[in-house]
Amino acid sequence: MMDQEKISQLSDIAKAMVAPGKGILAADESMNTVGKRFASINLENTEDNRRAFREMLLTAPGEEQYISGVILFDETIRQRTSGGKSFVEVLRAGGILPGIKVDQGLVSFNGSEVEKITKGLDGLGDRLKEYVALGAKFAKWRAVITISDSTPTPENIVQNTADLAQYALLCQQAGLVPMVEPEVLLDGNHSLQKSTEVLEQTLISLIAELKKAGVALEGTILKSSMAISGKNSGVKDTPAQVAEATIGVFKKVLPKELAGVVFLSGGQSELQATENLNAMHQLGQLPWPVTFSYARALQDGATKTWKGNPDNLLAAQRVFLHRAKMNSLASQGKYQPDMEQGFSAAAGGAATQD
Ligand code: 13P
Repeated sequence: MMDQEKISQLSDIAKAMVAPGKGILAADESMNTVGKRFASINLENTEDNRRAFREMLLTAPGEEQYISGVILFDETIRQRTSGGKSFVEVLRAGGILPGIKVDQGLVSFNGSEVEKITKGLDGLGDRLKEYVALGAKFAKWRAVITISDSTPTPENIVQNTADLAQYALLCQQAGLVPMVEPEVLLDGNHSLQKSTEVLEQTLISLIAELKKAGVALEGTILKSSMAISGKNSGVKDTPAQVAEATIGVFKKVLPKELAGVVFLSGGQSELQATENLNAMHQLGQLPWPVTFSYARALQDGATKTWKGNPDNLLAAQRVFLHRAKMNSLASQGKYQPDMEQGFSAAAGGAATQD
C-alpha cells in the first residue's frame, strides 16, 4: 500500500496532465518508427536529425497553452537543443511535464503470429529511478490488442493488462504517474461493434488488474484507443458514433477515481482525431477529464512542412501549434471545422506507431 502523501503527489501530477484545455504530445517514437516518419520526407534517420525534429516540436513558442506534458523517448530525455539546453529544461521552463516511454516494444505472445505482449519489466525499477533523476514526472507503457477472426484471446488480454498493472505499480512506487496504454489496434476489417466489445473487455480486465495490484487510480492516467471501425472495413464512422460507443464503454467500466483519460490517434487522420475528440465533449459533462495524447495526429502536418530543412522550422511550428490548438478546443467541445481555414491538415492516417 502506498502512503497517502505519495498518492496525493501523484494525483497532483495526474491532474496537471489533464488540466482543462490541455493534452499531451506523444513524441516518444522508437528509432525504428522515427525512421518510418523520416522516410516519408526523405530524411536520413541520424541522431542529429532526430534531435532537430524533436527540437522543432518541443520549442514551438507558446505550446504550453495547449500542451501539459510531452512523452519523450530514452534518447530524447538525454538530448539538448542546438542552443545547448536539455529538452527537459526546455519543457520545465514552459511549465510542461516531461514524461518517458519505458516499455521496450513488442514481442510475439506464446508464439502467436498475431498477438503480442510488451517487453520491459526486467530491471524496470532501476530504469524508473534513473528517469526520475533525469526529471521525468510520468511514464508510458503501450500494450497492443489485435482484433482478427481468432483474436484477441482472453489470455492475451489478461497478460497485457497484468503487465500494465505491474508497470503502473512500479511507477507509483518510484513517484511517477503511470500512463497505462492498452491500444486496441485500428488495423483490420472489423465493425464498430466489435471494436466496442474488445475495448470494453480490455478495460474491464485492466481495471481489475490495476486494483488487484494495489495501483492508486487517482494517480493513474488511462491512454485509450477509441471504439471505431477497422481501417480496412470500408466504413467511416461519424464522430457522433465514435463518441457514443467510446464514452458508452468508459461510463460502463471506468471508476470515477481514475485521474483522467487521454487518447492515442492510432492511424486516424489529424482531422478525424480532432473531430472525434470534440464529439466526445458534445455528449455533456464527462465523469473524468478526457483529452488527447496524440503522436501522428499532432505531428503529421508539421513533419511534412518541416522536411528536415531549418528554413521550414517556423512554418512547421505554426502548423504544429495550430493542430495543438484545434485539439485543445476539441478537448473542451469547442472545435469547429471552419477553424481549419488556412491550414491543410493531413487527411490520411500515417503508418504504424510503436
Ligand atoms: P499515435 O497518436 O500516433 O497513435 O501515437 C500515440 C502513442 O503514444 C502510441 O503509443
